[in-house]
Amino acid sequence: MAQIAKLAMDEHRLQSQIDELALISENAPPVVTRILFSEADLRGRAYVKQLAEEAGLHVRQDSIGNIFARWAGQNPDLPAVATGSHIDAIPNAGKFDGVVGVLGALEAIRALQRAGIRPRRSVELIVFTAEEPTRFGFGCIGSRMLAGTLSPEKAAVLKDRDGTSLEAWRRQVGWDKSDLGSVRLAQNCYSAFVELHIEQGPLLDKEKIPIGIVEKIAAPSVLRLELTGVGGHAGAMLMPERHDALLAGAEIALAVEKAALTSGSADTVGTTGVFRIEPGAVNSVPCQAHLEIDLRDTQAATRDSALAKIERSVEEICRRRGVSGKLERLATDPPVICDPKLVGLIAQTCSTLGVPAKRMISRAYHDSSFMAQVCPTAMIFIPCREGYSHRPDEYSSPEQIKTGVAVLADTLASLCSAG
Ligand code: GLV
Ligand code: MN
Ligand code: MN
Repeated sequence: MAQIAKLAMDEHRLQSQIDELALISENAPPVVTRILFSEADLRGRAYVKQLAEEAGLHVRQDSIGNIFARWAGQNPDLPAVATGSHIDAIPNAGKFDGVVGVLGALEAIRALQRAGIRPRRSVELIVFTAEEPTRFGFGCIGSRMLAGTLSPEKAAVLKDRDGTSLEAWRRQVGWDKSDLGSVRLAQNCYSAFVELHIEQGPLLDKEKIPIGIVEKIAAPSVLRLELTGVGGHAGAMLMPERHDALLAGAEIALAVEKAALTSGSADTVGTTGVFRIEPGAVNSVPCQAHLEIDLRDTQAATRDSALAKIERSVEEICRRRGVSGKLERLATDPPVICDPKLVGLIAQTCSTLGVPAKRMISRAYHDSSFMAQVCPTAMIFIPCREGYSHRPDEYSSPEQIKTGVAVLADTLASLCSAG
């Protein structure tokens, strides 16, 4: 990997910025939690904006909170080259998911600046709003709106678990000065988008390969289910009289597992990641259950037939148990094929730098899934230890991050000089 030295990286500064951002969290270290609109989210945004300004970038924010930090090119009228990721974090997360693609991209831009490169096209770092689904039930709110996949009307009325709408939140944090209708990007605003991210799976770590080049992003979907049963006294209500919302939910969670296991594809994965009950008292039969179900596959067809199977199970289980169920498909997204030319350019960059790379599928979803609707898009993966992600012990070494940033920087250098 000797040739990486061509562009000098300040990996120590990058690592200390990753560490500093990790301290901006709703929980004590090593846990990182930064949910959209939380104080930590707002402070994290301010921190990144400040770093971008210190790098001489022109920073603006759109009305859904996507942050754009632009390094102006010599020909600012040409479509810009974009890179970036997210800094929001699910409850009990680690410090690298998303952050490597934001602070790493900033370091890539600084490396290009230090090397005296004068970009022909502008280079723009994007920090996307709410890649994670925690507040509103499904993810990539910012990039969906940039692509026009989520309309301003639908976005405005999204509600969180406390019933607060996205519009009310925007007012509360002062983002309501401009209309959500202004978020959607024009089709020719970017010539390319490249996202650097940790793999969130074990392959690169296991095979000791420093770079993954993403060719395809799996098809995610989310279901939300409200179950209403009959509550009552845990001592006095005899078993044959019960319509227990938790037990209906428990059977449904098992049906999700079964639908994934029997889909005929080893790539189908189903998770009931949210399961809350009311009233939540040991001596009270649960009258209400709220479930959020995540179902994915690399192929939309197998994902969709497993989804249909789950929906039939919900109906059958609710009928048999005398529990009423309100089931919503919050999101069903197709798989995404990354731009073959961009994939080829990243592969060429790795080969020029002497960095071994592997083409692969992303099983996690990313803002890239939606940026692919706006411009040619691809992703660069780096290994993370054991593939651990969405947990506090998520880890990529400074050396692994440096390699990813070097590949990103060189790829951006080619893209921003292209005619
Ligand atoms: C992204 O965070 C995902 O859940 O794939
Ligand atoms: Mn994530
Ligand atoms: Mn991520």
